[in-house]
Amino acid sequence: MKVKLRRLQNGDKSLLYHFRNLKEIIENSLSQRKVSWNEHQRWFSQVALSGYCLAFVIFADGVPAGHLRVEQDRKYFILGELSMYLLRKYRNEGVGSLALEQGVDMVKWEWPFLKSIHIRTVSSTALRFFEKNKFEVSRRGAKEECWRAIRQVD
Ligand SMILES: CC(C)(COP(=O)(O)OP(=O)(O)OC[C@H]1O[C@@H](n2cnc3c(N)ncnc32)[C@H](O)[C@@H]1OP(=O)(O)O)[C@@H](O)C(=O)NCCC(=O)NCCS
Repeated sequence: MKVKLRRLQNGDKSLLYHFRNLKEIIENSLSQRKVSWNEHQRWFSQVALSGYCLAFVIFADGVPAGHLRVEQDRKYFILGELSMYLLRKYRNEGVGSLALEQGVDMVKWEWPFLKSIHIRTVSSTALRFFEKNKFEVSRRGAKEECWRAIRQVD
């Protein structure tokens, strides 16, 4: 499958709202809940399209298949947090690995000062995916409700 990332645009607001509230996306999200349109609109303009975020729509064979973004830590600019998801029908065919490598390359190009990217996930499948893609799993604290992993990018 041909995989391409395109920078997020204003016109993607409804698409991402639709993706974000699908059951198959919610069940792997950190919050595990739906978001309202108002909440989404605020997040879209204040986070997704802000200078602290590099956000993309993932296309598989020319069709929107998911979303990937890296948010820069507002205190430690050399750190970024990556989040990504694919619609279920595009999983387990290598799309995620290709999208991740393209995303990391774009982030390195746009933010050459970035040293590492970390992820948080509640999904053990996703954790295995990141482990296979050069992320190192950090220990899950007793009080933590998610796993963490980190990848050096400098
Ligand atoms: C995590 C996620 C993005 C991974 O994407 P993906 O496209 O499923 O990942 P890949 O297909 O690249 O790799 C997963 C499996 O497919 C296999 N695979 C890789 N290339 C393949 C190909 N060309 N054909 C068939 N299978 C392939 C991999 O070996 C891997 O299998 P394994 O772990 O059993 O060895 C996706 O599962 C997802 O959207 N999950 C829900 C959201 C989520 O949990 N996000 C993480 C929080 S940030």
